Amino acid sequence: MSSKFMQTVKLMSVAAALTFGAVSTAQAAEVLRVGTEATYAPFEFMGDDGKEIGYDIDIVKAIGEIEGFEVEIVNMGFDALIPSLLTSQIDAVIAAMTITPERAARVDFTAPYYNSGLSVLIRESDKDKYKTLADLKGATLCGQIGTTGAKKAEELSGGNSKSYNYESEVFNELKAGGCDGAVNDRPVNLYFLATSHAEDIVEMSEMITSEQYGIAVKKGNQELLDKLNAGLKKIHENGTFAKIHAKWFKVAE
Ligand code: ARG
Repeated sequence: MSSKFMQTVKLMSVAAALTFGAVSTAQAAEVLRVGTEATYAPFEFMGDDGKEIGYDIDIVKAIGEIEGFEVEIVNMGFDALIPSLLTSQIDAVIAAMTITPERAARVDFTAPYYNSGLSVLIRESDKDKYKTLADLKGATLCGQIGTTGAKKAEELSGGNSKSYNYESEVFNELKAGGCDGAVNDRPVNLYFLATSHAEDIVEMSEMITSEQYGIAVKKGNQELLDKLNAGLKKIHENGTFAKIHAKWFKVAE
């Protein structure tokens, strides 16, 4: 047999192995549908290519890689996330979602993966008017629909809050004077201040609550919960978690 022929046969079998290998792994890898609301930078937002990027997206993909599943991100309104989980339209939620007792009664959360809290942004010109959180009573405060920030906005303002679907609308309203203060997760407020060049916006120095984020799954889906927790633990141990943290927050964990 000519060596040329043998070479061709070899190449053909390599190609076949590659093709079949690729097909079978693609079929074998489980796809996890992960819901998020991608206007919440730096946790989840749209990249220039129209795909979801951010801290949470990297975390869930890293967990997927180590636990052997593919991640499909499903973007929707924040208030639609838990209902979609309850009706099995998605398998998990990663959305800077605070573990609260109300939510924990409806869904199961992984171990906390991020320590957060709320803060209030106001216009610089109002900084003498709103010195403490108590001064915000009667002011118009805004937040994103269904979030802990929106709830706090309602409380602090004394029932004078507005909520919006997209985080960008919350910031725009504050800039335009549609509300006097925006209540959001502090890292999101700080990211906005650092990236938006909104020089007339400042953060009030008084912080509010301390909160922790978890990944949510349908109540009773212990198998997936165990996998996510195991993956989280592994990415902490192998340094991936710290790398992702440094990438989005510019400091090591
Ligand atoms: N941590 C807050 C909450 O759980 C806000 C989360 C908003 N997340 C988002 N992806 N828009 O209520």
